[in-house]
Amino acid sequence: QLQSESTVRTVLVTGGAGYIGSHTVVELVENGYECVVVDNLSNSSYDSIARLEILTKHHIPFYEIDLRDRECLRKVFEEHKIDSVIHFAGLKAVGESTQIPLRYYHNNILGTLVLLELMQQYKVSNFVFSSSATVYGDATRFPNMIPIPEECPLGPTNPYGHTKYAIENILNDLYNSDKKNWKFAILRYFNPIGAHPSGLIGEDPLGIPNNLLPYMAQVSVGRREKLYIFGNDYDSRDGTPIRDYIHVVDLAKGHIAALKYLEVYNENEGLCREWNLGSGKGSTVFEVYRAFCKASGVALPYEVTARRAGDVLNLTAKPDRAKRELKWQTKLQVEDSCKDLWKWTTENPFGYQLRGVEARFST
Ligand code: NAD
Ligand code: WQD
Repeated sequence: QLQSESTVRTVLVTGGAGYIGSHTVVELVENGYECVVVDNLSNSSYDSIARLEILTKHHIPFYEIDLRDRECLRKVFEEHKIDSVIHFAGLKAVGESTQIPLRYYHNNILGTLVLLELMQQYKVSNFVFSSSATVYGDATRFPNMIPIPEECPLGPTNPYGHTKYAIENILNDLYNSDKKNWKFAILRYFNPIGAHPSGLIGEDPLGIPNNLLPYMAQVSVGRREKLYIFGNDYDSRDGTPIRDYIHVVDLAKGHIAALKYLEVYNENEGLCREWNLGSGKGSTVFEVYRAFCKASGVALPYEVTARRAGDVLNLTAKPDRAKRELKWQTKLQVEDSCKDLWKWTTENPFGYQLRGVEARFST
């Protein structure tokens, strides 16, 4: 059904060329929103936007801009009437953040400040923020808080986590300074995995993947020799750590639910509220390994090595608040994620870029 121009809402998606942002753009378009994407392509490529246009059959206005470049970002607010912002843009590698903390603080915090200042000037008040389960740190220090509720005391343990925690505090402070205006949804994601079932968009990490599923995917197509399992001496059912893996399409739908919640929230009142986005179900590394082997039909070679510094036993969400308030819950299982990841991997074994090169040569 066609919507009249005045009722179409426009969402500025920062980091929309990246993994979670691109999947969220698909859901936004399917829900009748116009999207404008800003991304500096520091961890993504323009190919994902081209694919999004194919997938959604919509033009996606795209600006290759660093959020910290205030005058460039201002242009976006001048050229579009932005109704809401979903803010994905940020650096996200935990290990790297311990090596180059200043770059993480500068990128994540300054980028967010410039964005919020422009939102204030252009009177845009709905803001959905990508936070992370990493803000809980080692939640196993509160054994009665597993699965983890939003009330669990926060305690990030690495610079990346500190930037997310700092931004959550900034949002709370800003809301407290003007409780009538701002509407902030802080979404704490657990472990996003999988890809769009079309096989057109997915996760395409630069360099050696840090995360379990992208690493397994690269082993499955021969880009890496074997999977290294970081420790099998944890106090879990098979000795490997437990995580709450969530299909990226379910996660993307969680953003629509949060945005809609903000849109219909009391006209005369703002809010700043956190929601866990997870399944509530924990899986061990071996369980995920077996699910991916089954989905791909490849018996991935692996070796158990020492624990990875900073890893914790169990990060499983209590997702009840999102279910109750946002009317959102996960629908897909780890098996679905593995199936969709396998499709993405086999159809794009080298991610976006090489496929783009092949396409240019074949035309
Ligand atoms: P991603 O790296 O694929 O996407 C982030 C995008 O932001 C990239 O395209 C990158 O080029 C862009 N970007 C970074 N800094 C920028 C800047 N200063 N200006 C403009 N663009 C910039 O990562 P993702 O997995 O899609 O994660 C999205 C968000 O969700 C991040 O904020 C991340 O911290 C958060 N998050 C991710 C996970 C996860 O496991 N993937 C878990 C919890 C939270
Ligand atoms: C999952 C499990 C590893 C790789 C990270 C961030 C977190 C959030 C999500 C952003 C762990 C094991 C992994 C490998 C392995 N991101 N593993 N071999 O560490 O739970 O969470 O991504 O906000 O902040 O820390 O995810 O995928 O790296 O690890 O054995 O090659 O897989 O030990 O138990 P993690 P992960």
